[in-house]
Amino acid sequence: MAACLQLNAKSYRAFLSTTSAPKHSAKPARMRCSAASPSKRYSITLLPGDGIGPEVISVAKNVLNLAASFEGIEFKFQEMPMGGAALDLTGVPLPEETLSVAKQSDAVLLGAIGGYKWDNNEKHLKPETGLLKLREGLKVFANLRPATVLPQLVDSSTLKKEVAEGVDLLVVRELTGGIYFGKPRGFGTNEDGAEIGFNTEVYASYEIDRIARVAFETARKRRGKLCSVDKANVLEASMFWRKRVIQIASEYPDVELSHMYVDNAAMQLIRNPKQFDTIVTNNIFGDILSDEASMITGSIGMLPSASLGESGPGLFEPIHGSAPDIAGQDKANPLATILSAAMLLKYGLGEENAAKRIEAAVLDTLNRDFRTGDIYSPGTKLVGCKEIGEEVLKSVDAQVPASV
Ligand SMILES: NC(=O)c1ccc[n+]([C@@H]2O[C@H](COP(=O)([O-])OP(=O)(O)OC[C@H]3O[C@@H](n4cnc5c(N)ncnc54)[C@H](O)[C@@H]3O)[C@@H](O)[C@H]2O)c1
Repeated sequence: MAACLQLNAKSYRAFLSTTSAPKHSAKPARMRCSAASPSKRYSITLLPGDGIGPEVISVAKNVLNLAASFEGIEFKFQEMPMGGAALDLTGVPLPEETLSVAKQSDAVLLGAIGGYKWDNNEKHLKPETGLLKLREGLKVFANLRPATVLPQLVDSSTLKKEVAEGVDLLVVRELTGGIYFGKPRGFGTNEDGAEIGFNTEVYASYEIDRIARVAFETARKRRGKLCSVDKANVLEASMFWRKRVIQIASEYPDVELSHMYVDNAAMQLIRNPKQFDTIVTNNIFGDILSDEASMITGSIGMLPSASLGESGPGLFEPIHGSAPDIAGQDKANPLATILSAAMLLKYGLGEENAAKRIEAAVLDTLNRDFRTGDIYSPGTKLVGCKEIGEEVLKSVDAQVPASV
């Protein structure tokens, strides 16, 4: 079975520990055929989903397969329906069989779900409900979303070059609690007879403690700075969040902890994003701030994510949605999904070297100036989803060094 996230500090540290990058000499493409015979086997559930999901998953699967083969890894892929595709096929957005196969695998790679066709469905029949159930079913409470401005794409950022360049932050978002799941929730009528809709922001101590530990461990592996974002000046749930995070901080004296109100954090991310290393926050604030952070990097099409639990398979997915406006046109940027596959190798399977092969290949492809429309700038080569995927495969095959 895959290595998975055990939330005692020791094993999580080992799990996240970085090994030095392999130093590959450039080898001819024929080496691809002589990759070591597989010594490790993992089962991967693929959930292509809707819109551009199947396009980006098909590209990412090939890259994952090739990079892993150089490390003696073989995958058994099982593709299952999810989201709108599952609704059309089975009448529900997350069929029991999909969840069961996902739970039994070593890691899950998801494309994206949703689309206009299902927008007016009742809530329990929306693709998005299937996604929330999947996260809940896999008990993946920690969502890691890196936002790194690559030197090759600094001009794609909406921020000024001097503000954007060098940004390298990671949002650790709590994923299975808070207002998205809290009860009571629903619709009703208030004492004045007016119709109301209501939700509940609620966190138990264990939910905060475990996400805080993931964040401290992650910050420790980065630049040792953790900023906890809350709204403790107004919300009781946030006051409690801050109290627990401060308590957990005593276990991590080497990590510098700061606190920031979410409204200020939203502003600081635009004003001076370089001040952040690791950010930890609740489900709803993390949802919003990580999307905001994504734009600093230039395109939502570049950003991967990992969702991890205490045991069992992790869920790896690009942060973008199904992009119905460009679906089926070979215009999608698959790099976020390819980088999610790298996170799958690193955080889901503990296969750091194979992950580095993918990351290096993505940088090499960008260095060779291949761009999809969302990250295109004059002077670079505009290509589609499939072609940029082929170029990444070439870079993996050439075993480009990790330092490109
Ligand atoms: N995790 C998920 O599966 C997820 C996340 C967000 C939204 N959604 C769903 O996706 C659907 C569309 O939502 P949306 O339009 O708000 O968000 P979106 O992320 O799908 O698209 C926003 C914009 O970014 C572009 N874009 C997104 N991914 C891209 C990529 N890889 N390459 C190039 N361009 C890309 C789109 O073309 C669009 O202009 C909705 O049904 C929504 O519920 C799903």
